Amino acid sequence: MSEPYEDLLEAAIRHLEERKAKGRKFVHVSMDKLAALRLPLVRSVRPSNIATPVHSPAATVPAFSPKPILIKASPVNSPDIEFVASPLISRETKETAMAALRAEALACLKCPQLAAARKNVVFGVGDIHSPLMFVGEAPGADEDQQGEPFVGAAGQLLTKMIQTMGFTRQSVYIANILKCRPDTPGQSFGNRKPTPEEMRTCLPYLLRQIELIRPRVIVALGATAVEGLFGKTVGITRLRGTWHEFQNTPVMPTYHPSYLLRTQSLTDKRKVWEDLLAVLEKLGCPISEKQRGYFLRGTS
Ligand code: URA
Repeated sequence: MSEPYEDLLEAAIRHLEERKAKGRKFVHVSMDKLAALRLPLVRSVRPSNIATPVHSPAATVPAFSPKPILIKASPVNSPDIEFVASPLISRETKETAMAALRAEALACLKCPQLAAARKNVVFGVGDIHSPLMFVGEAPGADEDQQGEPFVGAAGQLLTKMIQTMGFTRQSVYIANILKCRPDTPGQSFGNRKPTPEEMRTCLPYLLRQIELIRPRVIVALGATAVEGLFGKTVGITRLRGTWHEFQNTPVMPTYHPSYLLRTQSLTDKRKVWEDLLAVLEKLGCPISEKQRGYFLRGTS
């Protein structure tokens, strides 16, 4: 153990003993900090959050260098505290912290009109240990009904894209910028874009999901996902196909599946597929000839 770490540990123990000597029996610790305190101080363990593409069982993905994980204390409890945890976090700790975050999101009332209109909070789905994360805009009517992101028509196309990459829907993680469906007062159908205020309010949940999952690559689906992550309203046509970075994590922006469904453009489908091939390359996944050839000969 390093000296600075031991010094810090000793100082923490001294501080707690002083408080105990003064009669204090309890200290307030948020769920996030509790989870972080349980982190093992392991320095070189093969990471367990690598998904192996299902299309090639023999495929191996190169080990990645773990990044430090930053767990922020719940903004409700202690807005000023940031906790830098060990670079490696046990699966169990991660699952506990994610369950606590999910519970917090499910009870969220920060956007009263969305909370009043929603049927379900749509937190996220998939493998929280996955190296690959997809971020969409906001739940639509189907997602609101089922409490799961991307289950409607756009979701079915996204699922196909994920499978064509060689993953399953369960082996990646899927979430949205907004966890509640944007309300459409007086209308029982249709969707609206989240407002910048709604995105700002909800973003801390996604930030903490990303901090916990630590994906190796994020795919941002559509302009609103990019706007939510980066706070910029730059056209997706200009951004897609090039790598960006969100808190040290590579982000590939691409067209939203709803856009592909609307346009049915083979050219745009091919562009999305090229973006996803770049993602596979970044992850070090093997790419078959068949995969390289998709949409080149009109396959759809
Ligand atoms: N569109 C999105 O951006 N997210 C969903 O969950 C569904 C549709």
